[in-house]
Amino acid sequence: MNNETRIRIAIQKSGRLSDASLKLISQAGIKLARSKDQLIAYGNNYPIDVLLTRDDDIPTLLNEGTCDIGIMGYNIYNEFKCSREADKNNTNIDSAMDLPFGECRLSFASPYDSEIKSLSDCRGTKIATSYPATVNSYLKKMDINATCIEFKGSVEIAPKLGTCNLICDLVSTGTTLKANGLEEFHTLLESSAQVYRHSNVSEAKAKIINNLLDRFRSVVRAIESKYVTLHAPIAKLDTIISLLPGSESPTIIPLNNSADKVAVHALCNEKVFWETLENLKKEGASSILVIPIEKILD
Ligand code: PRP
Ligand code: ZN
Repeated sequence: MNNETRIRIAIQKSGRLSDASLKLISQAGIKLARSKDQLIAYGNNYPIDVLLTRDDDIPTLLNEGTCDIGIMGYNIYNEFKCSREADKNNTNIDSAMDLPFGECRLSFASPYDSEIKSLSDCRGTKIATSYPATVNSYLKKMDINATCIEFKGSVEIAPKLGTCNLICDLVSTGTTLKANGLEEFHTLLESSAQVYRHSNVSEAKAKIINNLLDRFRSVVRAIESKYVTLHAPIAKLDTIISLLPGSESPTIIPLNNSADKVAVHALCNEKVFWETLENLKKEGASSILVIPIEKILD
């Protein structure tokens, strides 16, 4: 065994962020070998070990330095931070980068036939939630007196059981609320996945973490970028270039046997929508290709 420095990353074992987190690690070029119990995976070609865990445990693992970095929703991090703040404690966790998945929101919702349909209607109610610290800190800020009842899961059935008047839970597609006869009426937090890191790591670990974050950034950028090629009438070249989203300096190439058209090749750093392509066509662009990018390194 050698004693090279390795970092440990915590990701959600099963849930909304699991597949996307593993995919991000794999797209960063890291090959993993899973242990028998599937709880830890070892990087074969990179000094990293991946801990597969409940998302709610990730803040503690990062705060204690058991893991050096982790991928979790902002909602989970914020709940941890609010509960530490309520006890006058700081956290040893820093946000390192935003990720383009795991979008959801934390919202108040009540049964369809309930009279509670605004934040001020929440005064004096009982609210079931898995996010008591977040909700309590929000209610305090908004000067609303209400009681939070903590549920670890299945919050959405609490109103039916008579435990509470309403809930405050994560909403992604809204399917769970609908299936339980609940209606969302107020959002208190928007969330998506982020990479977080422990605040104090050794210099050797920081080096690896920074390299990994660079790779993650390249992967995310490549996912969001497209390479666009098209033929453009020279007379409309400026208009066409201005329509290419997030492209800095496209390459212009002459076309064989064509005096009035050129080829334009551009790296577009923003989403390329169908509307953009239709507008390009309207301005006379033809042979438009939108090509996915595998890797970008500036
Ligand atoms: C959240 C929430 C709902 C569901 C909402 O759970 O508690 O059950 O997602 O999603 P929908 O609007 O698409 O129906 P989460 O995935 O965070 O699982 P967990 O609470 O068990 O970690
Ligand atoms: Zn969870």
